[in-house]
Amino acid sequence: MTPLKTNVLLLGSTGFLGSTFLKLIGQDSDLKDRLHITVLCRNSAKRFTELQKFYSDLEVVECNLEDDAVIQDHAAKTDIVINAASSDHTLTATLRGLEKNSAANPNKPPMYLQVSGLGITSDNSHGEYVNIDDLPGYVDIDFSLDQVPQENTHLPQDKLIVEAGTRTKNPVRTAIVFPGWIYGVGEAIQQTTLPVRIWVDMFLRAGYAGTWGEGHSIMGNAHVKDVASALATVLKAMLDGKADEGAKGFYFAISRQRMVSNREIASKIGDILFEHGLAKKGGSRPYPPEIVEPLGFYGWSLLGANQMAHAHHLSRFGWKPAETKKVLLMESLREEVLVYLRQLGKIPA
Ligand SMILES: NC(=O)c1ccc[n+]([C@@H]2O[C@H](COP(=O)([O-])OP(=O)(O)OC[C@H]3O[C@@H](n4cnc5c(N)ncnc54)[C@H](OP(=O)(O)O)[C@@H]3O)[C@@H](O)[C@H]2O)c1
Repeated sequence: MTPLKTNVLLLGSTGFLGSTFLKLIGQDSDLKDRLHITVLCRNSAKRFTELQKFYSDLEVVECNLEDDAVIQDHAAKTDIVINAASSDHTLTATLRGLEKNSAANPNKPPMYLQVSGLGITSDNSHGEYVNIDDLPGYVDIDFSLDQVPQENTHLPQDKLIVEAGTRTKNPVRTAIVFPGWIYGVGEAIQQTTLPVRIWVDMFLRAGYAGTWGEGHSIMGNAHVKDVASALATVLKAMLDGKADEGAKGFYFAISRQRMVSNREIASKIGDILFEHGLAKKGGSRPYPPEIVEPLGFYGWSLLGANQMAHAHHLSRFGWKPAETKKVLLMESLREEVLVYLRQLGKIPA
């Protein structure tokens, strides 16, 4: 390890976003020689070779997201933690480690870059149609977590991060990136976005595609390469001391392209499953209570509600969702579903 390099602890490196991000920074002339990356992941011996293809100065540590002691220990001795896995499991251990780290390095507080989600902006509209002009259009400059409905998902975790980023004793330099629907066929490790995996699995189980309520809900979107570049943009700004952090450290990572309704996405997936004999009927229809109710508020808030915001902050740092412009969500969806069905062995490779 070169002492002058910044030490990065990366969680979620094998995922759809995390692996795309790792590949991107491995090709970024500004970042590729500047970082030493420690990856916490499961099946690390097997993963090491494929991860190192994307970023050469990298080591792996075997870790489940439930391994609080390992996460805390590593967070206590790194310069920056980047979390592109799930915030819910790991946050307490990460923040404890970063607090110790800050106490030991009062002149150089550690940094924390978190991937959260646009779910914080959910309007909890139960799949009903709401005119776009009646939706709250949150802007990430002069934004506060108090502006959004307080019951929304991710909020408790995001508030803990802001608390760590604003306290005077043992502070952490924090920033949070909020993607909407991330799409595209991944070119690194995980090829399929989480919502497509969740939806296809659910539709296969039910035998048809469905929506929460009427499925009129819309959400901002961006191609996975653009969300990865959003993370890299914030990372560079943090490393250069130019990022807005703490109470100002919010970055929505969505394009201005058309927000597609859940019904449109579900119907297209339903058609593809039907074409391949994997659903009893094409299109989509509202799911009955026995399917939607087990997921409770979480399901309604994320799958049956509008999530709209404006990404002004990243634009200020020069970020442009260039890949999104080249291939829009609905143009990409068929291939994403087919890739996942091949992965599941439901259609021939
Ligand atoms: N995809 C979207 O549209 C979207 C939208 C908004 C927000 N987000 C958020 O962005 C983040 C990344 O999303 P993604 O689509 O990249 O998800 P993903 O493909 O499912 O990746 C999740 C990552 O977390 C790791 N992981 C999960 N559970 C683990 C465990 N118990 N122990 C160790 N590692 C574990 C996975 O490792 P393995 O490879 O070993 O499974 C993988 O590296 C998530 O927090 C997600 O909520 C995603």
